[in-house]
Amino acid sequence: MKKVNCLHLRSKMPLLLLVFLLTFSTTIFSQTAQEQPGAPEPTVTEMAVDDAAQASTGSGDAAAGEALFKANCAACHKLDKKAVGPPLRNVADKHDRQWLYDWIHNSQAMIAAGDPVAVKLFEEYNKSVMTAFPALSETDIDNILAYTSQPIPTPTETSVTATPTGESGGGVSNALVLGALALIFLLLIIMLFLVTNTLKRIAEANGVVYEEKEKGTPIWKAFVQNQFLVLVTSIFLILAAGYLGYGYLMQVGVDQGYSPVQPIHYSHRIHAGDNQIDCKYCHSSARTSKTSGIPSLNVCMNCHKNISEVAAETATEEHSKEFYDGEIAKLYKAVGWDAATQQYTGKTEPVKWVRIHNLPDFAYFNHSQHVTVAGIACQECHGIIEEMEVVEQFAPLTMGWCINCHRETNVSLASNEYYAKIHEELSKKYGVEKLTIAELGGLECGKCHY
Ligand code: HEC
Ligand code: HEC
Ligand code: HEC
Ligand code: HEC
Ligand code: HEC
Ligand code: HEC
Repeated sequence: MKKVNCLHLRSKMPLLLLVFLLTFSTTIFSQTAQEQPGAPEPTVTEMAVDDAAQASTGSGDAAAGEALFKANCAACHKLDKKAVGPPLRNVADKHDRQWLYDWIHNSQAMIAAGDPVAVKLFEEYNKSVMTAFPALSETDIDNILAYTSQPIPTPTETSVTATPTGESGGGVSNALVLGALALIFLLLIIMLFLVTNTLKRIAEANGVVYEEKEKGTPIWKAFVQNQFLVLVTSIFLILAAGYLGYGYLMQVGVDQGYSPVQPIHYSHRIHAGDNQIDCKYCHSSARTSKTSGIPSLNVCMNCHKNISEVAAETATEEHSKEFYDGEIAKLYKAVGWDAATQQYTGKTEPVKWVRIHNLPDFAYFNHSQHVTVAGIACQECHGIIEEMEVVEQFAPLTMGWCINCHRETNVSLASNEYYAKIHEELSKKYGVEKLTIAELGGLECGKCHY
């Protein structure tokens, strides 16, 4: 009887193989689809616009340019909005081609050489240093410029009908993968059911009498007895566990996007954005010390003695004027300010701000070294804080994040005499013209780890 069982399953082997191949091919698809969450498939209209732009500029491939732009420039530039650098839509019309090639290859060299347009731009952007891209060929730059020269895409009905659910068209969606898996399991169940039935019939035909007890366990028994099935299932489970486990472990301790509710709804958008209050007015120790610090409530009261309510136009759809006024009242309560008598009551209660950015204790990070010595803008590490209603953690704050920047950034020599000599000697040693932070020692474990 055992023999019959095996034989029957073996005849189903090709089918089983197919089923499992299918399982793997769909999981692999789903992985590649998940790897690029931020990159939606271009809609029909966008592609049409691509073609149009290519035809009109005559040079450069906008699609290739888009990829280059996202990889190299998007950290600092948006197309239509000011970010760390200026908006880049139609920048090709603003400067001549050669100027753009030179600028993108090495803007600092142009500024050092005294190019008036470059110097003016540099001053205008508070001397933020744009990364040099000597490795981009002129064709690459043409491609990027073709992308930035595209007209603003206007969504039309075609794009709506093309992707009605908003699902990415190219990859296999999660629902589909789950559906396929469910189907496979259903097939397996049906097959095993058929196997037992056939066995039963063969047994009956041969006049074999079998006991009731055996009848209850044929499915798992058939499964356990088939070594191929067991092997494939184990491999599948190990791979799946590995993939999920790796994904889980890589995000442990990474709190990118963390945005807790604060005891007072303090809006950076209103203060640093609309009212253009300098970051260092409140986070004054960023310039001179390791930490940036959160301002004491006295700093708030420099202004809020006089500002007890917000203007009507400050209210948004999300937050009403009453809400904002209530938050200022919380501030008054905390510092013990009586707005009616314009006097401090002496009854204070501390505000317990929730800390957002927090490196583990074994890592050393110093603000003044980055803000004052290197001249890095707060926004490069903290995102566009002045547009955030509620602060969120912008960077992953992983070791790889620190190291990548140290590998890519050149040591800034401007107004830093201290480095002149060591820079010269180290450049000679490494045979390079521009030293990166890595070459200066920014990859040494001891610099960041106590
Ligand atoms: C580290 C941030 C950063 C990155 C990355 C960056 N830029 Fe810039 N870019 C700037 C800043 C800041 C300016 C303004 C001038 C200055 O301060 O040097 C600028 C200016 C420009 C300008 C002049 C704009 C104008 O209005 O005249 C062009 C063109 C430009 N960048 C192209 C690029 C391209 C193309 C890339 C990607 C290959 C790129 N940038 C990557 C920061 C950056
Ligand atoms: C008027 C005072 C004030 C100004 C101006 C200001 N901040 Fe803040 N900032 C605060 C306060 C108060 C908090 C704590 C509450 C919160 O997280 O929103 C804070 C929190 C932060 C945090 C999160 C700290 C953490 O817990 O990890 C960052 C980052 C930050 N500010 C950056 C900036 C930058 C960059 C600017 C300039 C664009 C700026 N701030 C301007 C008062 C200010
Ligand atoms: C340099 C002046 C200045 C300082 C310093 C300042 N504020 Fe304000 N604050 C303003 C102005 C201006 C407004 C908006 C008034 C309006 O829109 O009409 C405002 C609005 C507010 C509001 C209502 C809108 C919102 O953000 O929810 C709160 C709450 C507030 N401030 C809290 C604080 C706290 C807490 C501090 C200290 C960490 C502080 N402010 C420091 C000038 C200041
Ligand atoms: C090179 C990246 C970088 C730059 C530039 C930078 N920060 Fe930070 N910031 C960090 C990191 C990393 C932390 C977490 C530090 C820790 O936990 O020890 C942090 C923490 C903070 C905090 C939380 C409290 C503290 O002091 O630890 C505030 C507030 C803050 N930054 C404000 C600023 C402001 C304002 C600027 C610009 C003047 C700025 N940062 C520039 C990386 C940066
Ligand atoms: C946006 C780019 C950038 C990021 C992100 C960044 N750094 Fe830096 N870092 C610099 C630059 C530029 C310098 C060189 C400053 C100077 O000229 O001394 C530097 C210098 C340092 C130094 C001194 C190195 C030396 O040789 O003396 C330490 C330590 C350091 N960074 C730690 C960190 C840590 C820890 C993180 C991550 C939490 C980090 N940095 C993230 C740009 C960055
Ligand atoms: C530029 C700064 C920097 C340098 C250089 C650096 N690290 Fe780190 N390292 C960090 C930061 C920041 C973290 C915390 C990352 C986090 O919390 O995810 C970290 C975390 C770690 C961890 C713990 C990993 C974890 O996930 O908890 C180890 C181990 C480590 N580093 C070893 C090293 C060794 C070994 C070197 C030298 C080859 C080194 N680091 C050089 C910044 C640095």
